[in-house]
Amino acid sequence: MVWVLAFWVLLGGVQADLYLHSPRGSNNRLNEKSANRNNGDRLFDSQNNNRGGYNVGDRTDNPSTQYLPPSQTFDINDPSGAQYQMVFFERSVLTFEWTNQHGCGGNEETDPQKLNCNINLQYMCEIDYPDIPDGHMNVRLRDGANTNTPDKANNFDEIQATTDANAANGRGTHESVAWYYMCEKRNRNQGLFHADQNLNGDSTKYTRQNPNGNRRGLECPEERDYYPYWNPTPWRDLAILTDHSQNCETLVEQSQNTASVGFCKGLLEEDETVPITEAECDEAGGTWAQFSHNLARKPICAQVGWSRTNHLGNGRDAVPLSINLTLPDLDELKDNKPTELASGFYKCVARIRYNMTTDDYRSDANSTMDDDEDNGFYSPVRQNPTVDVGASMLQGLKLAVNTAQFGRTFQDRTHVFYIKARPTNDPVFEGDIYNLNVRGKRCNIVQCFPAVEYDFVPKDLWIPASGAAIHVQWTGSNTHNNGNPAGDGQAGDAGEGTGGTDRQNMVLISNDRRHNYPIPLDKFADVALWPKMDFWRPITGEAISDWVDAAVILATSGQYTDKNDPELADFQELLNDSPASLIGGILMAPKAGSIFQDGPGSTPHKFSYMNTRNNNFSNRSQKAWITIGGPNSRPVGQVPGFEAPPQEAN
Ligand SMILES: *[C@@H]1O[C@H](CO)[C@@H](O)[C@H](O)[C@H]1NC(C)=O
Ligand SMILES: *[C@@H]1O[C@H](CO)[C@@H](O)[C@H](O)[C@H]1NC(C)=O
Ligand SMILES: *[C@@H]1O[C@H](CO)[C@@H](O)[C@H](O)[C@H]1NC(C)=O
Ligand SMILES: *[C@@H]1O[C@H](CO)[C@@H](O)[C@H](O)[C@H]1NC(C)=O
Repeated sequence: MVWVLAFWVLLGGVQADLYLHSPRGSNNRLNEKSANRNNGDRLFDSQNNNRGGYNVGDRTDNPSTQYLPPSQTFDINDPSGAQYQMVFFERSVLTFEWTNQHGCGGNEETDPQKLNCNINLQYMCEIDYPDIPDGHMNVRLRDGANTNTPDKANNFDEIQATTDANAANGRGTHESVAWYYMCEKRNRNQGLFHADQNLNGDSTKYTRQNPNGNRRGLECPEERDYYPYWNPTPWRDLAILTDHSQNCETLVEQSQNTASVGFCKGLLEEDETVPITEAECDEAGGTWAQFSHNLARKPICAQVGWSRTNHLGNGRDAVPLSINLTLPDLDELKDNKPTELASGFYKCVARIRYNMTTDDYRSDANSTMDDDEDNGFYSPVRQNPTVDVGASMLQGLKLAVNTAQFGRTFQDRTHVFYIKARPTNDPVFEGDIYNLNVRGKRCNIVQCFPAVEYDFVPKDLWIPASGAAIHVQWTGSNTHNNGNPAGDGQAGDAGEGTGGTDRQNMVLISNDRRHNYPIPLDKFADVALWPKMDFWRPITGEAISDWVDAAVILATSGQYTDKNDPELADFQELLNDSPASLIGGILMAPKAGSIFQDGPGSTPHKFSYMNTRNNNFSNRSQKAWITIGGPNSRPVGQVPGFEAPPQEAN
């Protein structure tokens, strides 16, 4: 019986779901050509199905595992094949879009549900903490060149050599080797509720959801499973979305963005167990210290969007589950010397966690409610119980309850991206910058699932007529073949152009989005958006003075930059030879003095565009729209959760 249970718990790990679609969530993928990821333990514990996630972007039309520094990655004249890291401006607005399978939402006070759910968005960037000499909080980020799990160190003196070997061996890294070493040496919180799970050890790598202390990447399971966390964490908070929004004030106060947590210094270096209370720390000869990220910015806390259970899809009103967030201001990082500060680029990753619990036990349940059979005390929830259903001839009926997952946390993370300092003394970069990106991979819905087909994000972008710019950028992989092994689903990469390749472009269509044909720019320039916009190369700040050149860049994914280039006549019309990423992106803003206006009496103007390669009527659609100006324009500088676009008159 015991054997059967253990087996069931292992299988249980691949059933459920939280997938980040934009920015692209990896679900632990790197560049595999199969529908299944190679290694679900690569960087973190997602608890997701093996099929979800998106590959790291490629810079050109060739697959590559090479990492280039930003000076080369964003140099549009450098032809090198390499991985592509997206770049977002500091304080720019980024839409996070995801799907979660088991339901969420329902305000606890006005629409209470038995299911409780939190969604938590965080980021971390490369950083050093000179005041924490054991290095466990330092962050170095790498997508990696292969799908192997990074190695851990077995004692403190091995940390540097292991770190170097992981780099030399092309292993991806999010948390550091020292972080995981701390995880294995630090006492776990003995007050937590474990139901009837027996934890196999006393360090923070053992939790109710991970009783055997399995390792995924260099992530620490206790930090992963619990929020807010009581030990220092390198993750900084962006947003807390909860169905208990009445607790928001407390949750925000507890964020390590501003709150301090105590921790014990000086013992890890001695390979000693690290206690989590001040008294035990003193007794063991350590130094009790305080940690806070000391940021100016607290996370947003809001009611989480409602979604139904058993439905990995949109929320209410058929709108994707999403949030518009302002990325950090780089003043938040400057004191800590990230490695690439010199060039104004900060290397970061973001993660999303989806935490569901049930009112079958109280949210403040603790270890006093754990199973204690010797003393006749039973946890309020037990593994696969047989329950009395009242009819006397029935022995009872068996319920499927896995107490390691009755109360469970799912996670997804982005690949590495950059946050870039805004150029100073350039008015173009002073307003609000809205990111416009692409989600999805090539395949039909059955082949993709639980990833999604292509779409623009946000699909319905609205910006004011003045004081705002759009940063358009996309990335794709050349190895999205979605082949075998395909696990629980179908292999295959239905789509247009060379198999396995993602390609994007942006071409205007008539301002009625029901149309499926581009507008010939020379004939309809008066109704088209591009002639009414100014364009720049955002990384260099260089203006693109001719809107037709900008239209060529957007139509060819940056393969051509000049409308007079004679080679345009030979353009591969399915973009097979175009780069998978729009390198550095294009910044555009409404021209001063054009038709756009904000404020009372003004009209919002709506423009539609499509991807010519991927839009395949009756099979797949990739169209979206941009609205500019109007009576409800949002004042510049008040970014997150910006309102829905004003409705068009027609
Ligand atoms: C999930 O919810 C439980 C119960 O409220 C809580 O103890 C835990 O810290 C939460 N974890 C995360 C990652 O939000
Ligand atoms: C994000 O902003 C866009 C406007 O461009 C809007 O359509 C969308 O509803 C917003 N999303 C959320 C979750 O507020
Ligand atoms: C459109 O999609 C279908 C289904 O994937 C595919 O069979 C067809 O070849 C596509 N059309 C073009 C023009 O590529
Ligand atoms: C859509 O896909 C079907 C096959 O699923 C195909 O017969 C049809 O031609 C496709 N449409 C286009 C425009 O390629």
